[in-house]
Amino acid sequence: MLIAQISDSHLLTGGRKVAGRFDTGARFDDLVASLGAQPVRPDVILFSGDLGEDATLEEYTIIGEGMRSLSIPVLAVPGNHDARTPMLAALPDMVGETESGHLCLCDTQFDLAIIGLDTLVEGAPHGELCENRLAWLKETLAQCADRDVLIFMHHPPMTTGMQDMDSMGLLAGKDAFSKMVEQQGRVRGILCGHMHRSIQGECGGAPVRVSPSASHQIAFDLREASSFAFSSEPPQFMMHIAEPNTPLVSHVVSILSTD
Ligand SMILES: [Fe+2]
Repeated sequence: MLIAQISDSHLLTGGRKVAGRFDTGARFDDLVASLGAQPVRPDVILFSGDLGEDATLEEYTIIGEGMRSLSIPVLAVPGNHDARTPMLAALPDMVGETESGHLCLCDTQFDLAIIGLDTLVEGAPHGELCENRLAWLKETLAQCADRDVLIFMHHPPMTTGMQDMDSMGLLAGKDAFSKMVEQQGRVRGILCGHMHRSIQGECGGAPVRVSPSASHQIAFDLREASSFAFSSEPPQFMMHIAEPNTPLVSHVVSILSTD
């Protein structure tokens, strides 16, 4: 199966620009056009958080209309810029909801089971997997014990060396998550966002792929005590080729502006 992963579109309405530089509304239109023009159509689109910039119902409504125009199934989890209530209201066909009110999901209609994890701490930039979410994941992984699995989530379950961003990373539940991935033993990939650049790593024996932003990137910088800064690298998304019993293959695709 072919999976398009998009992340961190940070859509703003009314032509406003993120950081005074990035017209994320126009870039979202470019993203939808690029996905629609792919010569091989993805089977599913995974949206790994930070869909909107200000988390308004209007932002999610525009995102919903754009994504549904592609007639491809879309699954989404929130990032730190998102808010659960408007996201659930505007995108009920794209998100799940647990008994504890978190927007986690498990979709078993494809060759690999797809688990989406809500790592959001509303109002904070960092992420967490609390006891409720870890309990849900444990039960869900047990239900998928005989299947290959893909997990997608906003905050990567690893540090990246970009220390300012790592300070806003997945600050709770990382070790328990890693153990669950290792125990299930058939997690083919963990697909993340948040970092606004392509990074590869590992967690619990499974590959971690961090998608760049579909709008604007963060500059590569490993210096201690330096604050993150946006760069002018192009908007990008990922295409993952995922088959049972086969290592995950992942591509980064640049989005060309239609201007
Ligand atoms: Fe982001």
